[in-house]
Parts: sequence; structure tokens; C-alpha cells
Amino acid sequence: MRIFAISDLHVDHPENARWVSQLSAWDYRQDALICAGDITHTLAQIEKTLVTLQKRFQVVAYLPGNHELWVRYQSTQDSLEKFRDIQNVASGSGVQTGVVHLDAVSLVPVLAWYDHSFAEPSEELREKWADYQMCLWPENFDQPRITRHFLSANPPFTPDPGRTVISFSHFVPRSDLLPSGRKTIELLRPVLGAEAIDDHVRKLGSSMHIYGHYHVNQRTERGGITYINNAFGYPRETHITAKKLLCVFEETQHGDTQAQRNIE
Ligand SMILES: [Fe+2]
Ligand SMILES: [Fe+2]
Repeated sequence: MRIFAISDLHVDHPENARWVSQLSAWDYRQDALICAGDITHTLAQIEKTLVTLQKRFQVVAYLPGNHELWVRYQSTQDSLEKFRDIQNVASGSGVQTGVVHLDAVSLVPVLAWYDHSFAEPSEELREKWADYQMCLWPENFDQPRITRHFLSANPPFTPDPGRTVISFSHFVPRSDLLPSGRKTIELLRPVLGAEAIDDHVRKLGSSMHIYGHYHVNQRTERGGITYINNAFGYPRETHITAKKLLCVFEETQHGDTQAQRNIE
């Protein structure tokens, strides 16, 4: 079985939806896919995409990103209620939302948010960042509280010595995965992730962590963990995204494993 990773499909862009619909119906039937959030914001399109992916892969492991939790113009529910609806839609589509134990690998989702631990948001960011308007939270839920809420919703996990742990989050697990000094990154840094995600990942015993949200593909090592971003991204982001499935792990017939291979 091969394990592929993707995130940030943003299928509200027709080009992106077309790419999903055109994925081979045969090539990945023995494989697993990690889909690390930001499919889109409408429940119907999230469900349609998950159903399509589940038909293509033997296993689809998924968690929502921030775009999934936008509720402002959709209904009166808050973002936590929408999160529960999405988890139900995913489960109803046959998609995995919890830990998945494969032969040689455990796929472990890490629910989280951004808590401003990377930096404090500027006034400009507070005005411009869509989540501040598009998500609705219970009273007293500021960004650190939202992050703690989701992190504490992750079930206890004990690594199995016979299995490699591959974890995945939508949000960036550590600030030093981001370049420094660029104006746009410095503006957005407060809403890109949380250092507490990496603390969680290390307790899981992960060898590899897949993340999205930041639409720049990269593979980086930090303290014995390989961090991989394979965001699909917006149509215009062709210079920072490969717009391909990325095979991040492969189990061979002899039980050996092999990591990191690009496949169309
Ligand atoms: Fe995204
Ligand atoms: Fe995102």
C-alpha cells in the first residue's frame, strides 16, 4: 500500500474540483490518502469531494481545515457545530476521521487551530483575515481557547512499536517551518499555526508529519521528524504548489518501507 498526501484542495475553484473528479478511478484502489483540510466551506461540496476521494482510494484519512468551519453566511450554527456536522458527513462517506492502523503505519490526525503563539496579530491582520469574520465560536472562545479545545479533542494514542506513526494537521506545527523576513508571511504568521501542535506530534512518536494551510510545498527535517506540505492551493499558486498527489510512504511486499516518492 502506498500512502499519498494532499491538503488545501479548495474545490470552490472549478479547476481544482475538476482535478479531483479526474483522479484515476483505478490507480489508487489499494492506496491510502491523507487529506489535511481546506476542501472548501460548503457542506454539500465537502461531502461530494469526500465521496469522490473515497471511491478512488482504499482508505481516506481526513480532518477539516479553517475554511470548512466558515459559517457566517450559511446558517445560524457556530463553527463547533459545523465541525461535528463535517465529521458526521465524513464518517457517512466512509472516510476516516480518527486514527487509522494500516499494516506498517498508523495515520494519526491532529485537530488544532492557530493560537497566536507564532506571533501576535496586527490590526491589519485582524481586519483582513477572513476567519475572524467567517467563523463563529461560543462566547469566550478566543484563538488560544479554540486551539486548546481542538487539541484536547484528539483521542489518547499509544504508538505501536511495529508501526511507523505518520501524523497530520491542517495547521503549521511550528513557526520555524516558515520563512522569515517576508512581508506577507510576517503578516500572516500569527494565524498559520501553533507551537502546541508540535508538542502534541512529538508525544505521538511521529516520524513524519503532514500539514497544510500554508500553501507552499516543502519537505523539511526538524529533530528527527520529516515535515511535509503538499497543499494543492489556489489555481494561481502554480509557482509554490506541485498540484500533484505526493506519495509519502510505501509498504513493499517484503514488509520493507520506502518514503517520499513523487507520483503524477
Ligand atoms: Fe488553504
Ligand atoms: Fe487553511
